[in-house]
Amino acid sequence: MTNKTKNSADLVFSGVQPSGALHIGNYLGMLKPAVALQESYNCIYCVVDLHAITVPQDPSKLADQTREIVAAFLASGIDPSETIVFAQSNVPAHAELAWYFNCVARMGWLERMTQFKEKSGKDNERSSVGLFDYPVLQAADILAYRATHVPVGEDQLQHLELSKYIAERFNRQFEVPDFFPSPVAIVRGTGTRVMNLKDGTKKMAKSDPSDLSRINLTDDSDTIARKFKKAKTDSGVIPTELAELDDRPEAKNLIGIFCALSNQHPEEALRMFGGQGFSVLKGTLAELAVEELAPISANMRQYLSDQQGIDQVLREGGERARAISEPIMRDVREVIGFWKP
Ligand code: AQP
Repeated sequence: MTNKTKNSADLVFSGVQPSGALHIGNYLGMLKPAVALQESYNCIYCVVDLHAITVPQDPSKLADQTREIVAAFLASGIDPSETIVFAQSNVPAHAELAWYFNCVARMGWLERMTQFKEKSGKDNERSSVGLFDYPVLQAADILAYRATHVPVGEDQLQHLELSKYIAERFNRQFEVPDFFPSPVAIVRGTGTRVMNLKDGTKKMAKSDPSDLSRINLTDDSDTIARKFKKAKTDSGVIPTELAELDDRPEAKNLIGIFCALSNQHPEEALRMFGGQGFSVLKGTLAELAVEELAPISANMRQYLSDQQGIDQVLREGGERARAISEPIMRDVREVIGFWKP
């Protein structure tokens, strides 16, 4: 954390759940911007395993899933000698600060969170309390480091707003103006909300039961081509005007993925593909995705073959994360007024 060209007043924090294989949505929405942000910010990237257990995880797989996320970070270009990479469960500040924030956040705020409604479905009585509390833990993740910027996909914007409310209310309630910063979301480009390939109205997700609904970072070129070929589309041709995409969710999604992978504007994409059927676009998407993901997938395999190397990154990252969060937590306890040993 010593690069003098970086803005030292700002700190970037982001996290990914080790809840399954990463997909192109995670990559375009969070991972790719996270790599680019290392150029100008000090960054902390966390494998949020405490978040992952808000829904059942197989204990015999969780540690390996954590290593896989680290391998994806490194393979995409995250540099652990600069950026802190660690596992959330390895740093006690997250769970501790989440408890304090539970006593600051209001039930009404959490009841408005749409992700809980989506993930808990109709039977929310049977969801874990942790799933309901997920955004409070997210606020703790960010503020345990007084992080100022958070690169996320569009799906996380509401949670980021909640983090701001919590920071502001803590500062007001304990009369410590500016104690916690108000974190700012960084949402960039057209890849910030990649949708499910089988249903353009749902977001692409690791936990979707259909593997055909997403492109995984580790899919080989044949699988990527097959998944795009089988992606749902409507029976029309690709429109020539942007406004016509509004009620064509699958077409809009494929054009959005094309733009994110090729750095083109949607208008330009419609000039290229408008008036045609979907097969040329799907073929182009497969080529672009393979070009971008194949080197990452190959690098991931290499990192994963060196488990000790990955564990060392996590150990060192955990130490560096604790060194930042522990003094902040000492201050938090003092502000709250706890007895000091
Ligand atoms: N479909 C998406 N499009 C763009 N960005 C996305 N992200 C997730 N899905 C998309 C971004 O990826 C980062 C890590 O997400 P996460 O692992 O913490 O959890 P999530 O948002 O719940 O992701 P998934 O894939 O949908 O996982 P499951 O199915 O386990 O819940 C975040 O920055 C997120 O915005």
